[in-house]
Amino acid sequence: MTPAFVSLRSVSKTYRSDRATIGALREVSLEIEKGGFVRLSGPSGSGKTTLLNLVAGLDRPDQGEVFVSGIDVGRLSGSRASKYRAEQIGMVFQSYNLIPQLTALENVLLPMIALGRANQGRARELLDLVGLADRSDHNPSQLSGGEQQRVAVARALANDPALVLADEPTGNLDDQSAQRVMGLLTRLVREHGKTLLLVTHERDLQTAQRSLELRGGVLMAAPE
Ligand SMILES: Nc1ncnc2c1ncn2[C@@H]1O[C@H](COP(=O)(O)OP(=O)(O)OP(=O)(O)O)[C@@H](O)[C@H]1O
Ligand SMILES: [Mg+2]
Repeated sequence: MTPAFVSLRSVSKTYRSDRATIGALREVSLEIEKGGFVRLSGPSGSGKTTLLNLVAGLDRPDQGEVFVSGIDVGRLSGSRASKYRAEQIGMVFQSYNLIPQLTALENVLLPMIALGRANQGRARELLDLVGLADRSDHNPSQLSGGEQQRVAVARALANDPALVLADEPTGNLDDQSAQRVMGLLTRLVREHGKTLLLVTHERDLQTAQRSLELRGGVLMAAPE
């Protein structure tokens, strides 16, 4: 059997402060095949963003293993983790994380610059795909929340990543824009063999191959 593209084995993550110990993830195991599309839901504070951060190598598990494409993500050092993200991962952050001083176009170009292959044409094409061709010279402060979210989606796709991690990428969008973004993401899976891990509360997303739910850091199959 070929190993899964994304593999979490008994992963636990605990946040400790003076006042509280929070088990953000408890012995989470998950396998996603290459080209798989997994939808992840769960209440606020259930560990969804924590799980994406571990897969992206932005945080480390306390216990367990995180492997992506054969890479031991939980043990990558800082610069190797950055390289891993630039090469493999497209992440749409829940809070967008756009660089305020840069225009929409520059934000989309940034991941490409990190790999030494800036391509303005591609950046413009991606902004066009999310319906923002006419906003490329705006800074984030000049964009609405939903527009910033769409720039974040375009940026996540800049380096043609094998794995897209999207944290409620349609949370701030009207139906039409949401459908556009979802169409873009699902086409990546269907036509380009990309792997998608999508955090969403939308219930009408039938296209996912698998729906999972986190509850208090415990991963389970989502109820039908
Ligand atoms: N850096 C941190 N330090 C301390 N506690 C944290 C940290 N990050 C997350 N937590 C806690 O871990 C738990 C899981 O947080 P997480 O952000 O993963 O939830 P979530 O499912 O993404 O929630 P939401 O739907 O609100 O985005 C929460 O109880 C949160 O307060
Ligand atoms: Mg979250």
